[in-house]
Amino acid sequence: MPADVFTAPLKKPAHVGDDWLEPKQTDYTSDDDAIWNDLFARQMAVLPGHAASAFMEGLDKLDLGQGGVPEFARLSEDLGKLTGWSVVPVPMLIPDHVFFWHLANRRFPAGNFIRTRETFDYIQEPDVFHDVFGHVPMLTDPVYADYMQEYGKAGWKAMRYNRLKALGALYWYTVEFGLMLEHGEVRAYGAGILSGPTEVVFAVEGKSPNRIMLNVDRVMRTDYVISDLQPTYFVIESFEDLYRQTVERDFDRLYRNLPPAFTYANSAVIDVDNVIHRGTQEYLLRGGRGSGAAPV
Ligand SMILES: [Fe+2]
Repeated sequence: MPADVFTAPLKKPAHVGDDWLEPKQTDYTSDDDAIWNDLFARQMAVLPGHAASAFMEGLDKLDLGQGGVPEFARLSEDLGKLTGWSVVPVPMLIPDHVFFWHLANRRFPAGNFIRTRETFDYIQEPDVFHDVFGHVPMLTDPVYADYMQEYGKAGWKAMRYNRLKALGALYWYTVEFGLMLEHGEVRAYGAGILSGPTEVVFAVEGKSPNRIMLNVDRVMRTDYVISDLQPTYFVIESFEDLYRQTVERDFDRLYRNLPPAFTYANSAVIDVDNVIHRGTQEYLLRGGRGSGAAPV
């Protein structure tokens, strides 16, 4: 890492090295495996017709439904043959610069732990279900796999310009909450959407959220919500489109002109937007999560 890059002080557990990798994946209990199986079954009941076909095919290619938390070694072997990626265990959220370094080397850091029955419906910190079920199937798509590597390579540049927030918004609105068009229909490919039961339907069919065609410059100026359903989703035509928009953009020039704070509110629709669906924002206006508002 270049010496002039600022890194956030996150306390590193004593047993991990500078790469923040666990020496080995956790030995999961039968209860842990049962939690994985129940989460898996719950998602499979809602994903068909809502998830992108690349995601559904990825689940099949990696045989993620064979029961219990998958072994990262097996996943890495299968994924390695398909796109050269591997899955590596990390204890918790890791520092940005380490995360970028792993992505740039086609390693996907996945949370080692699995949620409990008490936090079955919602956890803030990504666990092995979110990371492996939500993210890893997409890495079987060759173009998406290249996009993720490019994203990792872009990270240190954003840190040097102190514009990590902007690059974070791009990750948020693509890798975590991205939608795409398939034969004219909207489908979800973002892991944050695909690893939970509510947002899949809300993002794809809900009348509340905006659905706007993705423009990298616009997205990187847009605020987002961390602990509730998104007021706006951005839609790509294809992974080729996403990859092209990203690698062709001169990020040095963009960062030099980008203000430090977000320009657009997360529910905003602006005049240059190519809008697929203008949301009613009913869910947000009724108070969102915690208010008892229906995710419509
Ligand atoms: Fe994630």
